[in-house]
Amino acid sequence: MAIRIDGKALAAQVKERVRQEAERLPRRPGLAVILVGENPASKVYVNGKEKDCAECGIISFPYKLPEETTQEELLALIRRLNEDEAVDGILCQLPLPKALDEDLVIHSILPEKDVDCFHPFNVGRMSIGDPVFLPCTPAGVMEMLRAYEIPVAGKRCVVLGRSNIVGKPMAMLLNQADGTVTVCHSRTPDMAALAREADILVSAVGRTGLVTADMVKEGAVVIDVAMNRDENGKLCGDVVFDEVEPKASYITPVPGGVGPMTRAVLMQNILTAAKAHQK
Ligand code: GUN
Repeated sequence: MAIRIDGKALAAQVKERVRQEAERLPRRPGLAVILVGENPASKVYVNGKEKDCAECGIISFPYKLPEETTQEELLALIRRLNEDEAVDGILCQLPLPKALDEDLVIHSILPEKDVDCFHPFNVGRMSIGDPVFLPCTPAGVMEMLRAYEIPVAGKRCVVLGRSNIVGKPMAMLLNQADGTVTVCHSRTPDMAALAREADILVSAVGRTGLVTADMVKEGAVVIDVAMNRDENGKLCGDVVFDEVEPKASYITPVPGGVGPMTRAVLMQNILTAAKAHQK
């Protein structure tokens, strides 16, 4: 039976370290949180991030904008926040309403305030192994592997999904930790066969029921990044937990696994930004 990786407990430790360091800074770190529209999942995520900020002694400046917000209005707000010295980090919750250009918005955030690590400058720095900020979800996963002393070097790692936010940076960090990484996606023939070769399997697709026991090697480490809703509206991941748990050596639950660690790394990134600004 797999050991369950307790993301909630680990995240609490990380946040406590951030709180202690933030307390010693001359000025409390500040995060601007922009939410455009009424996406219910985004509202939940943003509330969680604001709660984490409060726990870490970080001031959050919420900007809840209507669905009809124009591109120009949003860019004007970001320009203002880029200049605001009380704001160390700017987080614009994705997805944005269809009328807005996400790439343009991400590119308009000053790289030194891009605590999500979405800006091409920061993605580039991370990809050459000289990061300014860490990509929150992938770095949260790496922190879990470190905390449970799960080696990556020399291991076969398979990442399901190739999004800019999770799949791609996840593959990069595993590669930098000397894993041998395969990235699977919607056009991959026989994904199950590749998944079965994994010592470390990371699923970041967003499809309930995707990872079944027959896709998992005996003793594999199974990391579930997805945040889906099942038919009853209950939060669940990609992994069919009950049937995979007996086969895996380690497994992350949903909720209580990767999600809290993503938010904890965000807090670390805000601290990093604040330290740089207050030097
Ligand atoms: N939407 C889903 N995940 C994230 C995230 O980590 N940051 C932002 N800004 N939006 C998201």
